[in-house]
Amino acid sequence: MKVLLIGSGGREHALAWKIAQSSLLTKMYAAPGNPGIAEFAELVNPDDIVKFAQEKNIDLVVIGPEAPLVNGLVDALEFAGIKAFGCKKDAAQIEGSKIFAKQLMKKYNIPTAKFEVFDNPDAAKNYIRSEGAPIVIKADGLAAGKGVIVAQDLDAAINAVDEMKNFGAAGSKIVVEEFMNGEEASILAFTDGETIIPMIAAQDHKRLNDGDSGVNTGGMGAYAPAPVITEKVAALANEKILKPIIAALRAEGIIYRGCLYAGLMIVNGEPKVVEFNARFGDPETQAVLPLLNSDLLEIMLSCANGDLAKQEINWSEGAAVCVVLASGGYPKAYKKNLPITGIETAKKQGAIIFHAGTAEIDGQIVTSGGRVLGVTALDKDIKSAIDKAYKFVGEIHFENMHYRRDIAARALKTCSAD
Ligand code: AMP
Ligand code: GLY
Repeated sequence: MKVLLIGSGGREHALAWKIAQSSLLTKMYAAPGNPGIAEFAELVNPDDIVKFAQEKNIDLVVIGPEAPLVNGLVDALEFAGIKAFGCKKDAAQIEGSKIFAKQLMKKYNIPTAKFEVFDNPDAAKNYIRSEGAPIVIKADGLAAGKGVIVAQDLDAAINAVDEMKNFGAAGSKIVVEEFMNGEEASILAFTDGETIIPMIAAQDHKRLNDGDSGVNTGGMGAYAPAPVITEKVAALANEKILKPIIAALRAEGIIYRGCLYAGLMIVNGEPKVVEFNARFGDPETQAVLPLLNSDLLEIMLSCANGDLAKQEINWSEGAAVCVVLASGGYPKAYKKNLPITGIETAKKQGAIIFHAGTAEIDGQIVTSGGRVLGVTALDKDIKSAIDKAYKFVGEIHFENMHYRRDIAARALKTCSAD
């Protein structure tokens, strides 16, 4: 099978790494890819993805990021008779519009925070004053992960309403929602629009610094499995959230195919939806896919073909920890083109290194993005995987490298509290 992978981050490197293990694969292209992905795929940058896929007789296009999904790439590919792993534009609204997602959950009784929608800032402010803080203010549309403000007091909440203007059209409508107090986890799931099969649950670390301090980022590390998703919570998530949302979409005439990401808050043992994403998580994927024993390409093909029910998906018994190495200054301005050393040494010791923001200049790998590398370690349990991951991280250097020292530390607390 010939595969074309769309995207260029750490998530896409993890997808390429796993797809490359498939016995079905004959050739992989990546558009635009990155220097890590180049180990498994020919990097290309066509102006017209659909035309390229037709010319190269691509059997499956795998789409990493949300923007091409929301913009209808899968619709265009299907129209041209090309199969894709990823959802169509109508389904991608689940991530592309918070209002669409919240109203769907409300209509079909899927547990989530209470909310109201506003297009008038004064009405939003009046509602906030009547509800009190803490409270959460969200831009409706895609805002590069920055459109959510968790306000601890009333002043911050009122200011947040005004800040929504900075997101342009994405912030012209806003959602004000109840603050949920609990522990977060991410469940990614494969679905063909009928059957939905959850992957091993993961936990992201969104804040920049140790102890969940500092600003929100794209994600500074992840691990799986997440002990907060006990068997009981997983069963509740499956019966009350995953299966119902796929059925709800179907009832609305929308067939969701691809990966559905449920961001959950576990409140007193009950999972509630924080958000849905229409794609794999980043960096959750870099911790989850290394635990997958089954053939990813076979599963993706079944999602596209609508026969996922026939797949039996197997997972490894162990644990995976992914530590993100970021450029000093991220998520604000940072230097680029700084040489990175130690990648090969860490790989020889067993590290799985995923490139996120790197470039290659004259054979030297250099930094080129905010999140530079994801360093994943696999071991029999979380504790051993943490130790291994930080040993690997110790091999890697670049100027101003920043990373969290406490990735997965919460898992140890959750385990010892049991
Ligand atoms: P989102 O982009 O919707 O995932 O929101 C970003 C982050 O804001 C989430 O990962 C949570 O940490 C936090 N958040 C969003 N909604 C809520 C909520 N209703 N209660 C508490 N925290 C929230
Ligand atoms: N790790 C958060 C996300 O992928 O949205």
